[in-house]
Amino acid sequence: MSKQWGGRFEEKTDPVVEAFTASVHYDSRLAMYDIQASIAHARMLGRQRIISQKDAQKIVQGLECIRKEIEQGKFVWNPSLEDVHTNIEHALIQKIGECGKKLHTARSRNDQVATDVRLWTRAQIDTIIDLITQFQGVLVEFAEAHLDIITPGFTHLQPAQPVLLAHHILAYFEMFQRDKMRFKELRPRVNILPLGATALAGTPHPIDPYYVAEQLGFEQLCANSMDAVSDRDFLIEFCSYSALIMMHLSRWCEELIIWSSPLFGFIGIGDAFTTGSSIMPQKKNPDVAELVRGKSGRVYGHLIALLTVMKSLPLTYNRDMQEDKEVVFDTADTVENSLIVCTKMVSSIRVNQENIQRALDLGYMEATDLADYLVERGVSFREAHSIIGKIVLYAIKNKKHLRELSMDEYKSFSSLFDKDVFTILQPTTIVKRRNSPGGTSPYWVKKALLKAKKQLIK
Ligand code: ARG
Repeated sequence: MSKQWGGRFEEKTDPVVEAFTASVHYDSRLAMYDIQASIAHARMLGRQRIISQKDAQKIVQGLECIRKEIEQGKFVWNPSLEDVHTNIEHALIQKIGECGKKLHTARSRNDQVATDVRLWTRAQIDTIIDLITQFQGVLVEFAEAHLDIITPGFTHLQPAQPVLLAHHILAYFEMFQRDKMRFKELRPRVNILPLGATALAGTPHPIDPYYVAEQLGFEQLCANSMDAVSDRDFLIEFCSYSALIMMHLSRWCEELIIWSSPLFGFIGIGDAFTTGSSIMPQKKNPDVAELVRGKSGRVYGHLIALLTVMKSLPLTYNRDMQEDKEVVFDTADTVENSLIVCTKMVSSIRVNQENIQRALDLGYMEATDLADYLVERGVSFREAHSIIGKIVLYAIKNKKHLRELSMDEYKSFSSLFDKDVFTILQPTTIVKRRNSPGGTSPYWVKKALLKAKKQLIK
């Protein structure tokens, strides 16, 4: 099969080189965007009389035919034709003859691939924003359905202070809200048309890139033709924001893994989202959550891979940049599939209120509140901290909960203790008193829920 660029060559490409340079086995994924951009380009060529209107029409019809063949799985991709662009162009020429050779007027694969990838990235951004919203939706439902549950809040994975379970869940709502914001901010930086930059320097043909931009829904043109074909910073941002999503998902999944361990027993993950062991019949493992946690590793890896591919490349296009595609494709697949599976998994979670209740008795989580009790009665916080530390030590030694100590025992540490100290020791009181903005009191958590719901509708 003769190459589109074969004229200058006397020898045939070595088959090893053909296989080594081919990318069609993965970039055929860009086919629909390639055709969409080519149709816009051909129409522009016709409107501008760079080619005849008749030729432009034939090209558009030919491309539409090819689109159908691809959709129906009838199109045969040929690796010796290198990539998605040359495969489609070759098929067009086969289909409509000589006039198909005019499509590539005032265009290079350099601006063509940059255009396709920007169209692809824009679509992924929209999909990911949508998937995050769905995930946030089930988090909000879950939080609302468990508004009455108080659970240990942790620092260092040690019991710290009681919090509403809904407050803990809504912390994730906020993280994903920022993830969404990052993708929304990225979109206009992606949505810029490189086509018209041609190989690197622009073209002498009287093109109308504004028309092409409008056809493809791009908001702007790239300002510099050399920049247009040579940067992939928008893909690095895409990978970077994706890495942040995976980081957040991995933390969420880590919590589900810990909470569902029988040693915690706070939740059970549904059978449909867990797997068994091939040897230990009793096991129900949180493999889905573990895999999401594990897949964060490959997404981080892709970010580093792309940064490394781009590092030190001289302007403008270099073939190194073909290496961008597999990493961004896998990044998008991994993030999207992880969001989908995590969304479904949330609705399978059953909360075990008794176990959570029992855990509230561990770890002396009322200690800060006892210190604050003394502060309210005039003791400095440092002094109060020291007194309560001694009370906790006393309770540990005597194997008692703080609420099991007698009034006399409290009085022996400070005369400021009174009977009302026992109300302080109730988790419901503790939570209700944390009424500072963004705190865990039911007042603020209900407010946060309302706000979250409004943000989801927007
Ligand atoms: N397959 C190539 C890529 O993905 C398309 C651009 C090829 N350009 C070139 N000058 N060889 O980067």
